[in-house]
Amino acid sequence: DEDPKEQVKRINKIKREFGKDLFLVAHHYQKDEIVQFADATGDSLKLAQVASRNKQARKIVFCGVHFMAETADILTDNDQDVILPDPTAGCSMADMANAFQVTTAWNYLTQKYGTDIMPVTYVNSSAAIKSFVGKKNGIVVTSGNALKVVAWALKKKKRLFFLPDQHLGRNTALKLGIAKSELGVWNPLTDTLLADDPQALKIILWNGYCSVHQQFNVAQIKKLRLAYPDIKVIVHPECKNDVVNAADEVGSTAAIIKYIQQAPLGTRIAVGTDNNLVKRLQKEYTNKKVMLLNPIACSCVLMNRIDLPHLAFTMDSLVNNSADLNVIKVNDETAFWAKKALDTMLNLS
Ligand code: 13P
Ligand code: SF4
Repeated sequence: DEDPKEQVKRINKIKREFGKDLFLVAHHYQKDEIVQFADATGDSLKLAQVASRNKQARKIVFCGVHFMAETADILTDNDQDVILPDPTAGCSMADMANAFQVTTAWNYLTQKYGTDIMPVTYVNSSAAIKSFVGKKNGIVVTSGNALKVVAWALKKKKRLFFLPDQHLGRNTALKLGIAKSELGVWNPLTDTLLADDPQALKIILWNGYCSVHQQFNVAQIKKLRLAYPDIKVIVHPECKNDVVNAADEVGSTAAIIKYIQQAPLGTRIAVGTDNNLVKRLQKEYTNKKVMLLNPIACSCVLMNRIDLPHLAFTMDSLVNNSADLNVIKVNDETAFWAKKALDTMLNLS
């Protein structure tokens, strides 16, 4: 129950004392009370790149979710510690695919289709899944580079197995001209492939989704268009395909920010993504009319587990070199293969 002002002062003081030895990064969905301390903010792709380029900081405080901290650990040097301020800040989508389930699906698919298939995983997945994909010569994608990466992968292999977000996979595939009949869904709860004609499939989508982006629907867009005929709507590609189709634009969090920055003054824009980010954009761009596509959507409860008290506790633990510090360490074998899949993507983007 410490006074938040005291916590802010202390965090700033500890940051100053550590200087360049400490690097604090925050995903765009983090709360303002965290973003105020960030040395770098970004979407998943940028945070992965920023972490891999920083060779100076010994301590990287990662304000995001578990898979992002794992990715940062994989891409940084061994003597750099990546610290997640709350060990329970996970990602419900990443948790929808575990290595056992993915191996079962892969065995089925390779028996059915042979070796002309590549696994592709969204960066929102555990290190274990990235490692699986690396071992099978696959690649990682982010929401910012999915079109480029999937197009590249389709030149290499006849079929792709896309994990774990079915919506990013479907939206990307349809944008690349793949027909709906060429998309199948793997249900990991029943270990079955859902498809009208399995031989026609080009991309098999894992049946995963984001609980935040599931909260947007076409009715919300229609309602806003009725009230404001000139409104522009931009949504994240983790939204369902009918929502993406009803919107004017689709883009990663970084692309959404750029779209708002570049929109003419006075443009009314409704945004379908985490409301922490949309509310921040509303405050920053008062010369544009930024609106929440769904004002009652929950922002990511998992991202929100990182808050001021958790960050203050983490900074205190850093000073005391306490055992309570939540350092994320991916084991060497997993990290090696996951890095292979990540590097394939980073070299491409
Ligand atoms: P991006 O930051 O890559 O747009 O992803 C959004 C997201 O859901 C992060 O968990
Ligand atoms: Fe996972 Fe969705 Fe939260 Fe991103 S917003 S961390 S995808 S649950």
